[in-house]
Amino acid sequence: MNKIIVTGGLGYIGSHTAVELSKKFQVVIVDDLSNSSIEVLDGISKISHLKPLFEKLDLKNKENVKKLFDRHNDAIGLIHFAAFKAVGESVEKPLKYYENNLSSLIYILQEIDNRNLSFNLIFSSSCTVYGQAINLPITEEESIKKAESPYGNTKQISEEILFDYAKTNTKINITALRYFNPIGAHHSGHIGELPLGIPQNLVPFITQTAAGIYKEITVFGDDYNTPDGTCVRDYIHVVDLAKAHIVALENLIEKRNQDNYSVYNIGTGKGLSVLEVIDSFIKCTGVKLNYVIGKRRAGDVESAYADNSKAIKELKWSPKYSLDDAILSAWKWEKKIRNI
Ligand code: UD1
Repeated sequence: MNKIIVTGGLGYIGSHTAVELSKKFQVVIVDDLSNSSIEVLDGISKISHLKPLFEKLDLKNKENVKKLFDRHNDAIGLIHFAAFKAVGESVEKPLKYYENNLSSLIYILQEIDNRNLSFNLIFSSSCTVYGQAINLPITEEESIKKAESPYGNTKQISEEILFDYAKTNTKINITALRYFNPIGAHHSGHIGELPLGIPQNLVPFITQTAAGIYKEITVFGDDYNTPDGTCVRDYIHVVDLAKAHIVALENLIEKRNQDNYSVYNIGTGKGLSVLEVIDSFIKCTGVKLNYVIGKRRAGDVESAYADNSKAIKELKWSPKYSLDDAILSAWKWEKKIRNI
């Protein structure tokens, strides 16, 4: 089996991708455990019946990255998830975000370059690069606006670094996946999202409120120019998102990509409002959920949903799970970690 390194492989999207990847590849998980737990490794093993290789490593140390590539000089590719992702924190601590998210990427590219490797790289990007798009659904051709946060800027700059570097090295094949809003958990209940502290994202806040940790959830604004006044997003099941990484990687390995740097939107193509997500939770689980309408959250865009036709056509990928599937899996996971 070909070997693939997965940085940030114990994180939310990384762990689900490691599970899918291990069906076809030998997986090396690298994680510094700064925003993840070692128990996730057991969850991955339980699902895949394999114990992935694991390296606890800080990738913003250049020497560590060099040693990683020394130890795994047979790897044919890498999926780079390792990054900080809290938008609010990035505004408070921009240098922490720029240092971590950019230095690890640069060191990885330098190792690939120094070793003159024929290499396949998948990068975790985000629909945040579009800001409030003018055209909906959002295609990959949509203009990139000035980032709303240092976090968003690290994704924009990373894409630029990859684009510029790909032009200089025809032996590297790179795909950046622009995720819309990942939600849900593995249907086995063994892995899911583990937000540290107060969750910032909608679905973990819903499930934690339903679990009794919070009294109510606040809907951030109902005066947007959308059908019910609440913001619209494209919520994609994390397992569908994980599978997109495998097909994108195979596309590179089998050299079906036209250019050596490509970007793809990974979303369902369907925009749903905050109230529709809350309704889905109440309907699917039958659990009571208190919510109140509050003020708009600074930095939120009104509507963002993907035109995913490029991924469907070129990667032969399509999302399989519904919002209800994702909500039920998220609730199953929440109940498990709370012993409900
Ligand atoms: C956010 C980030 C995005 C990041 C993604 C990763 C911003 C501006 N964007 O996306 O860059 O890639 O998370 O997970 O922060 N909502 C409520 N009440 C809540 C929580 C959320 O009404 O308690 C609403 C928000 O206003 C938004 C929707 O739910 O309309 C989704 O919010 P969230 O899950 O935080 O995702 P994004 O903001 O879309």
